Amino acid sequence: MILREFFDYYFNSVEPDVLSIYQQLMPGVSDLSSSYESMFSRNDDEAIAFLLKFHQATSELRNSKPHQAILFNVHNNVCFPFFVEYLWKVMSPSDREKLVQQAGTDSLEDITARLNDDVELRNWFRREIGSVLSQQDLFTLNEIIALQNFSSGGEYSFLKYVYPDIQKLEGKVLDAGCGAGFATLVMSQYASVFSIDACKARLERAMALSNMMKNGEKTIFPKVIDLIEEELGGIQVECEFPSADDLLSGTCKEVTFVEGSIDALPYPDNYFDAINCLDVLEHTYSPEAIVEQFARVLKPGGRVFITAPTRYGEVEQHIHESIEGTLFPAMLHMHHFDPQSLADMFKRHGFTTVEITPFDFMSWEEFMEIADRSPARELAEELRAHPFDQVALQLFAVFEKV
Ligand SMILES: C[S@@+](CC[C@H](N)C(=O)[O-])C[C@H]1O[C@@H](n2cnc3c(N)ncnc32)[C@H](O)[C@@H]1O
Repeated sequence: MILREFFDYYFNSVEPDVLSIYQQLMPGVSDLSSSYESMFSRNDDEAIAFLLKFHQATSELRNSKPHQAILFNVHNNVCFPFFVEYLWKVMSPSDREKLVQQAGTDSLEDITARLNDDVELRNWFRREIGSVLSQQDLFTLNEIIALQNFSSGGEYSFLKYVYPDIQKLEGKVLDAGCGAGFATLVMSQYASVFSIDACKARLERAMALSNMMKNGEKTIFPKVIDLIEEELGGIQVECEFPSADDLLSGTCKEVTFVEGSIDALPYPDNYFDAINCLDVLEHTYSPEAIVEQFARVLKPGGRVFITAPTRYGEVEQHIHESIEGTLFPAMLHMHHFDPQSLADMFKRHGFTTVEITPFDFMSWEEFMEIADRSPARELAEELRAHPFDQVALQLFAVFEKV
């Protein structure tokens, strides 16, 4: 539903040459928005071939005409009014009143224009309103965010940290918050994989890939790898993508997919031998409830593989948010951890720590360079008072159920 609304808005708002790019990807259809919406809820070969072309075109547009491209959380962009209107509809009457007071007008059009032009107003908005979205709103917005990239972000971390262990694994593995299904697909050669995600568009993508591989179609996968590599180009993980042939030399087994939230897992107790959960906990409101579920569904001796952003990552996120004046928290990260808080949370639910490895490093100089650009002066001052040599923005961790 939200995708239909979004495509209606987007195709009616972009410049004619941009509309024509998207029309050419789907020639001869009478209702472009509903045809796009239905393509994103399909999981067959044709849909995945279409998605590859869609993401290629969208990524080219991001470079050539960023103000016309599909981008979330960015002002001076054609999608910005859509997100302001979305928030306007879901916010409480008292928040709406606060916004009217702050913007000095009750016309949504004027409020949108002021938000677009005024970084201080956007920063106020994110702190007061954009950071108190419900879990359901986050899930809904995620359907649109999934249009930005084919990748769901954790592919490099999976290859570097989990892949070596997974090749030795047998039994049942849960891919919790499987995203676009890269890890699911690779793991399904070694174990019976069960994959769950709250985002329907990403889940369909994962199902399509899995169906193709099960049917022996391997020509698309190299293209998927190329696209993911291109999209993740800037991410700081020292890891080369193996070739498609190396990654998928075995036969992929049937994967069981479920659309749902990982804080209420629909599986029996003591069911899984391992859980892969990369780049997910920070997007949720209740990591504690999720870890409790992991403890329930995992067999004793079973392991959980996690990646999550650190508290340094939180500072970096706040710096970026304040420089850009994002409407929502950057990357919709709600939680950040340090090694101790992550280990303590798992310990409370009966896990021991096997490994916690920091990665994605930044130097003090790089950190201060961005902090100095932030209008949030106190953040830079605080950093200056507590200097450090090098910081890791993310953690990889392995926990074992006792
Ligand atoms: C940054 S992506 C990471 C996806 C994937 N694990 C990877 O490594 O690429 C985060 C994913 O978590 C999903 N997600 C967030 N909260 C969730 C929840 N409570 N239940 C299920 N999925 C959730 C999102 O829909 C999204 O696909």
